[in-house]
Amino acid sequence: MSDAFESLIGGCAAMERLRDRARRIAETPLPVLIKGETGTGKEVLARAVHDASGRRGAFVAVDCAALTPSLVESELFGHVRGAFTGAARDRDGLVAAARDGTLFLDEIAELPRALQTRLLRLVQEGTWRPVGADAHERADVRIVAATWKDLQGEVREGRFREDLYHRLAVVELELPALRDRGEDVRLLAEHFLHTESKRLGRTPPKLSHRLFNHLDKLSWPGNVRELRHAMAYLAVVPQGARVDIDDLPPRLRRLTAAPVLGPDVRTDLPYLEARRVWLDAFQARYVQALLDEHGGNVSAAARAAGLDRRTIQRIRGRLLDADGQDDD
Ligand SMILES: Nc1ncnc2c1ncn2[C@@H]1O[C@H](COP(=O)(O)OP(=O)(O)OP(=O)(O)O)[C@@H](O)[C@H]1O
Ligand SMILES: [Mg+2]
Repeated sequence: MSDAFESLIGGCAAMERLRDRARRIAETPLPVLIKGETGTGKEVLARAVHDASGRRGAFVAVDCAALTPSLVESELFGHVRGAFTGAARDRDGLVAAARDGTLFLDEIAELPRALQTRLLRLVQEGTWRPVGADAHERADVRIVAATWKDLQGEVREGRFREDLYHRLAVVELELPALRDRGEDVRLLAEHFLHTESKRLGRTPPKLSHRLFNHLDKLSWPGNVRELRHAMAYLAVVPQGARVDIDDLPPRLRRLTAAPVLGPDVRTDLPYLEARRVWLDAFQARYVQALLDEHGGNVSAAARAAGLDRRTIQRIRGRLLDADGQDDD
């Protein structure tokens, strides 16, 4: 028997538990809230919940962050003819398209307040009113929402309706970050190396032990998506080659995360002035750190940063001037 949750690869205990829970709630009509950092597989999980639900209707994915603010209401709930300029005929929205299926609301934290109220009604009563319509429509629509944000925090800050939060979070499924999945890094790396190589019509290269150990230790801020991209990158090395750490994209070769260098934002200055001060400080810090990293070699630094040598020299000149002033 094929299992919808097999699309979610991973054998670590946390993923096994998650799949078990998801399997048990898939066939119920309960709303589901999926949490997890970017690239952890929230959409894959949402799809799997739908596929395992036995629901006849479609899986309709909506990115709440990408909806045009002025059109969002009609995109979601549809409109009737004449509801606004340009509404030449009745049009169903995405909610209606998910009739008897699943409406996947991605980045739910970005849904504007006014729409949160309408969504609450849909979740509570299964009804909605198209823009300009007198009557409500009704349908069986299963809601699955996803967010990487702390939705409870959004509630505390007053950006997200508390009642809607409680309705959506009846079942919470949390995807662990890739760095917390232990052996799964290897499993996923092998998997993606195979699928990406196959896509390119190549034989998957062999990864050295050193490389596998290195992948285990990386922090993977972009999670599974980032790992997949890294494997796609490795899949284009020459046929039959054995790949090692040096073959990784440069960003992933080093274990230590690059230091975060952020100058302070000066709200005590007018905007343009604050921006100039901020940019000057940014350039200075960036170039200083870059040159330190490359032992003062301007050519190597320019290559690594994708900058012109003269640009680096100019900024360095400013740095030296500033140093000189300090000494006075
Ligand atoms: N467990 C997994 N097994 C196989 N592929 C996975 C798994 N998790 C994620 N992926 C793949 O990683 C990529 C990102 O997954 P997905 O789009 O579901 O992440 P997301 O959590 O929705 O990310 P974002 O928050 O950025 O929208 C996709 O290419 C997906 O196929
Ligand atoms: Mg997503």
